[in-house]
Formats: sequence, structure tokens, C-alpha cells
Amino acid sequence: MITQNEQMIWVQAVSYEELAFNTGKTIRYQGEEVALFKLKSGKLQAIQNRCPHKEGVLAEGIVCDDHVFCPMHDRKIHLPSGLVQAPDTGCVKTYLTKVDDGTVYIGFPNAKEMAS
Ligand code: FES
Repeated sequence: MITQNEQMIWVQAVSYEELAFNTGKTIRYQGEEVALFKLKSGKLQAIQNRCPHKEGVLAEGIVCDDHVFCPMHDRKIHLPSGLVQAPDTGCVKTYLTKVDDGTVYIGFPNAKEMAS
């Protein structure tokens, strides 16, 4: 199910209860691939699923607190900001999330708004 307003398109991803703690889940929507995480605190984080180094699949990474370690070469990425941590550099996109009636939604910018 998809809902939208002028700024965001909210895409239904998964049941909040079924989402495992500290384990990434890949969500795809119109060519974008998102890594969705439910942290140990219960907070949700969603980032671009490909590492900026050599496109490691971040949903397969190891989560520690609010960071994920890329499964390919272990770069450490801060989930709330998407920033790769020093000594490495780079960043990934972050996405808004919300829970409505037990279902997790991921927010994508409305392309029509971005174009105007
Ligand atoms: S591909 Fe992620 S650290 Fe190299």
C-alpha cells in the first residue's frame, strides 16, 4: 500500500512486530533499495542499502548501537545521519520511517515536488 501527500510518498514495508531487532531488511521501491533496521531500543532507521565504498549490501551488515558495519570491508556507518565514520569518508541517503497501526512505512520524497 502506498499513501502520499505533497512532500512524501509512504511505502508499506513490513509489520513492526515481524521485524527482527538489529537485523537489516531490504525494501525496494521504484529502483531505490533501502536497508531498514529496528534497533535494540525499538527505534527504526532506514538508509540507502549500498555502501559508498564498493556497494556492499548494508542490510547484511552487523548492527552495533546506532551504527552498521558494512559486510564487505567493515566501514562503520552512523544510521541516523548516514555518515561513514572516520577514518573513512562518505555517506548514504537516509529515509524517514513511521509506524501506523503496526505497519512500518518508509518515506520517499515525492518526485513531483523535487522537480518543481
Ligand atoms: S563495500 Fe562497504 S566497506 Fe567496502
